[in-house]
Amino acid sequence: MGCFDENSEIMEHFFHPRNVGKIDNPDAIGHVGNPKCGDIMDLYLKIKDNIIIDAKFQTYGCAAAIASTSVLTELIKGKSIYEALKISNKKIREVLGEMPPHKYHCTVLAEQALKAAIEDYKNLASPEP
Ligand code: FES
Repeated sequence: MGCFDENSEIMEHFFHPRNVGKIDNPDAIGHVGNPKCGDIMDLYLKIKDNIIIDAKFQTYGCAAAIASTSVLTELIKGKSIYEALKISNKKIREVLGEMPPHKYHCTVLAEQALKAAIEDYKNLASPEP
């Protein structure tokens, strides 16, 4: 299908995405989009004592974008927000395996969703006086 081997990790996550959906009363939301391709990601986090105890996502986009967000949620669950911030798009690509360079931006979008969610959390945790 398209530019991915059907046995690839990307297609595995695309057909069986982990942690799809929305969290009711999330502690943080990361909403990002890529204006060029039009793909959109919503990442929902439940955070307790700075630990990400749950993560879910809704991605409206390509197979690589869906697979990237799926892998991201698996990587960040159970981690502190500080550890999670060290997860880069490169790490997501390592998990997903080979992909054509023109799809790298899909993994970048997932990293941006995480950063946006953690930023949202920080803003909520310490509102402006
Ligand atoms: Fe843009 Fe995948 S084509 S995020």
